[in-house]
Amino acid sequence: MNKERIKELTSEIENLWTSELDMQKLNDLRVMYLGKNGKITELSKGMKDVPNEEKKEYGVLLNELRKLFEDNYNLYNNKLLEKELNDKLSKEKIDVTLPSTKINVGSPNILEHIIEEVEEVFMSMGYDVVDGPEIEEDKYNFELLNIPKGHPARDAQDTFYIEGNEILLRSQTSAVQARVMLEHEGKEPIRMICPGRTYRRDEDDATHSHNFTQIEGLLVDKKDISLSDLKGTFDALAKKLFGEDCVTRFRPSYYQFTEPSVETDVSCFACKGKGCPLCKNTGWLTISGAGMVHPNVLKMCGYDPNVWKGFAFGFGAERCAMLKYGINDIRTFYNADLRVVGIFDRKEAK
Ligand code: DAH
Repeated sequence: MNKERIKELTSEIENLWTSELDMQKLNDLRVMYLGKNGKITELSKGMKDVPNEEKKEYGVLLNELRKLFEDNYNLYNNKLLEKELNDKLSKEKIDVTLPSTKINVGSPNILEHIIEEVEEVFMSMGYDVVDGPEIEEDKYNFELLNIPKGHPARDAQDTFYIEGNEILLRSQTSAVQARVMLEHEGKEPIRMICPGRTYRRDEDDATHSHNFTQIEGLLVDKKDISLSDLKGTFDALAKKLFGEDCVTRFRPSYYQFTEPSVETDVSCFACKGKGCPLCKNTGWLTISGAGMVHPNVLKMCGYDPNVWKGFAFGFGAERCAMLKYGINDIRTFYNADLRVVGIFDRKEAK
């Protein structure tokens, strides 16, 4: 190793850096100088033959040489990387005038939509939204609701039995009334609604389905609860679902688990009560069954009818949606026709 060689390489390295360098050439240079048999590497290998007293001086010179190469190499390498990135960016420039691809975000099921609206109304009045099982016991679906075995009211609610006569697919969400009352052990007031699937052994046609959706409601309290509380509650719901100018009325009816029982009607929103095909010229649309909870039901479910009173109601979500959106076939809700599903999006509720 001699100083001449180091000088020679220094001026050689100083002259390497030109604008013609590209990544490939730069890499070749790195191999040529710092590779296994590179020129600087060779010099380093020669250190072992340098006399001890000169090693330090040679070490410094050699390091300077290596630094000279590396500094220039890094500088050019960075420049080339930056240029590569800029070229790529300018090629990939986004044309903001191009039409965008439409992202299909989907929309809620129409029934879900109705349920959400109803839940909103009742939650604002302090009601809980509860769930109950679809596979139900005869006891909850019928007996605790004042419909003993052999009662003719069962005929209209013939359903699917799973095990013998005791385990069935619930024919009404009213079953949840009994469950919730028993859960509260006759001690606490109750305000709940329960939306859910129900089943009947009906032949499917435009207005019947073996599987449909009900929304049940129950209020139990010690205060003097009366039909007029039910009327006010139903009125609030009807106005939210069908518009502020909607008028409501009760008609006498009969259910085994309420006494007195009523059918609740809203003024026809299509003709504003004048009479049209939707309301069959009556000016009214029936929405739900309802009434004051029957004392027998209160008693069987652990509430003392001398102390507690309550009202209940139940209605079909499909019927509500059919009226509200002018749908004339209940099967529309279940056959997943995207043309129908896509019509309703969440904004519609606002
Ligand atoms: N469960 C009844 C049905 O399916 C509807 C109903 C009527 C529910 C009156 C109630 C009620 O809670 O009080 O026909």
